[in-house]
Amino acid sequence: MSIRPKLAEAVNNQIQLEFQSAYLYLSMSAWFTQNNLPGCAHWMHLQWQEETQHALKLFKFLHDRGGNVVLQALAAPNEQYSTALDVFKSVQAHEELITSAINDLYEVAIQEKDLPLQVVLQWFINEQVEEESQVGEIVDQFTMIGSDGPSVYLLDRQLASRTATSGSSTN
Ligand code: FEO
Repeated sequence: MSIRPKLAEAVNNQIQLEFQSAYLYLSMSAWFTQNNLPGCAHWMHLQWQEETQHALKLFKFLHDRGGNVVLQALAAPNEQYSTALDVFKSVQAHEELITSAINDLYEVAIQEKDLPLQVVLQWFINEQVEEESQVGEIVDQFTMIGSDGPSVYLLDRQLASRTATSGSSTN
């Protein structure tokens, strides 16, 4: 059964948010490179990839359901950060916003009785729990070490070890 136009529009809005997230994290990756924190830059670069995969997952879903993908404009990300903690706090706030958007979309999928959309969104709901947990941990770590240079250096090295997760797959 084809997706209803109202739901297709809502999924297109979510695709925009996922690409906007990717764009934001790519800009943060650049900020970290320019501020000599290559581990954080690497972490953000992987986050950019993950968000792109999220957008593409919905992109494919919409086509599979006979909907039209309508790509929307992306806003220029804010690049005014002062510390790594500042950046990760922004990520945390942004992910909370994305969680709300996914939850709202899920509510609409329930109201419209669209079961396939509910199923694909359950993957996103789980992903948001994981993302909020991961970034919350990093915010706590940067808060704990404050501006202690050697500790920031060590945490940056730790973040350099992040690898791409299978959870970012579009399948
Ligand atoms: Fe795709 Fe981080 O939300």
